[in-house]
This record gives sequence, structure tokens and C-alpha cells, in this order.
Amino acid sequence: MPHEPPDPTRGLRVVLAILALAVAAILFMVGQLRGDVPVTAPCLVRPGVTAILGKSRTGKTTLALKELHGYAHRALIFDPRASEALDAVPTLTSRAEVRRHFANSAGRWIRTVRTFDLGLYSWLAASVAHWRGVVWVMDDAHSLFSDPLIAEKAIEVGVGGRHMGGRLGVELWVITHRPVMVPAAIRSQVNTIHTFRQTGPLDLAELARWCGEDFAERASQLGDYQHITGDV
Ligand SMILES: Nc1ncnc2c1ncn2[C@@H]1O[C@H](COP(=O)(O)OP(=O)(O)OP(=O)(O)O)[C@@H](O)[C@H]1O
Ligand SMILES: [Mg+2]
Repeated sequence: MPHEPPDPTRGLRVVLAILALAVAAILFMVGQLRGDVPVTAPCLVRPGVTAILGKSRTGKTTLALKELHGYAHRALIFDPRASEALDAVPTLTSRAEVRRHFANSAGRWIRTVRTFDLGLYSWLAASVAHWRGVVWVMDDAHSLFSDPLIAEKAIEVGVGGRHMGGRLGVELWVITHRPVMVPAAIRSQVNTIHTFRQTGPLDLAELARWCGEDFAERASQLGDYQHITGDV
């Protein structure tokens, strides 16, 4: 059998293959460091924003959790004030825990993200394009929106959700006792309102703009833990 001459490019090809593997590994690690959140399973979400309103301690967060249990397949609650109403919900407190959860997030789940570090919330908000079929609930939303990046991404979800039929894959709920402090671009996308008692003149005027004077009048007279629901 004739002896095959040695292939002079073989060494080069091995080196190139090793280099390609190294580049792929580096790109993967950079993605992890940048904090990309893995995409969850596709499923459509409702367009428009849901608002849960009312004075302090009227039952907003308790109602939100009850509604989520009956409705949402997957929900992430931004919980910057560590609401006692959410104490029983499994919580994520760091980027590492968020990543671990999403690496294994099949099926139905509700989680809070609970930290006093606004940076974790804005990191999550910045990853909005990676999400599918998840309800984002922003508790104490007006304080979260003091971070411009969170406000910008929430506006993207609100506007995108309504005009693109949920293509972004995130549905937005906002919970607040100061609706007038929610950016106007989000307020204009609200289409479902649950309100507990409200008495602030500006907040009532906003409620009247959304659902009419009668609705606002009824909201001002609600008793403890009573709420009414309206479609805008
Ligand atoms: N329907 C209800 N009946 C009795 N107690 C309730 C009801 N809903 C909520 N509560 C209680 O009222 C308190 C406030 O509830 P919750 O935290 O849901 O209100 P909130 O409006 O979200 O308050 P905050 O303005 O502090 O965020 C909690 O102790 C909760 O257990
Ligand atoms: Mg609350």
C-alpha cells in the first residue's frame, strides 16, 4: 500500500478548530456575564396594562396575588418594598438566583424579586426582549419608575403589548397608591383597573379620565378592602 504523504494543513486545521471552540466558549461566558436571561416557553400575553390602585394598606397587593393565581401561567412580581402580602411567594434576591430559576423554569410559577437594590430590577427590565408569556407585576410601581431604565422598558412593554398583540411576550401590571406618578405613556395603555378607596383629588381625576366620574365617585366611597373593577 502506498504510504500517504503527511497533510501539511492538518495541524493548522486542528489549531483553527480549537480556536473556534475557545471563541464560542468566550462568547457564551460573555453572554452569562452580561446577564442575558434565558427565554421561557412561548405563549401569548394579553395586550394592555392592568392597574391596581388605592390608598395605602387597602389590599392592593393581596388582590394582585389572588388575581394572578387565577390567571397567570407565569408571573414575576417586582417587590421593592418586601410586601408582607407576598411573604409566602418563593423569592429571588440576586442575579444568580434569577438565572438559576430561568435555567429550569418550565411549567407554571409565580416568583417575587425582592431586594432594595433597584439595580436588580433595572437589569431585569433591560432583558425584556428575552421574555415570553410572563406577567410582570410592578408593586409600588411609582417608586420603581423613578429608575429611568425601568420606566423606559415598562413603557416599551405597555405600548408594544397593546400595538403588537403581546409580541413582546410580557404583560404589565402596575400596583400603586399614586397613579398620577406613573408615566403618562403607561397610564395611556391601561385597559383594566381594579381600584380600592382613593381620596386624593389628582388621583380621583385620573380615575375619572379612565373610567368616568361615576366610577371615581364610587371609588372614593369604598369601605375597607373593597374594590371595584373597570375596563377603560
Ligand atoms: N380582604 C381583606 N380582608 C382582610 N384583611 C385584608 C384583606 N386584604 C388585605 N388585608 C390585609 O391588609 C393589610 C394590607 O394588605 P396589602 O398589603 O395587600 O395592602 P396594600 O394596599 O398592598 O398595602 P401597601 O399600600 O402597604 O402596599 C395586610 O395585613 C393584609 O393581610
Ligand atoms: Mg402593597
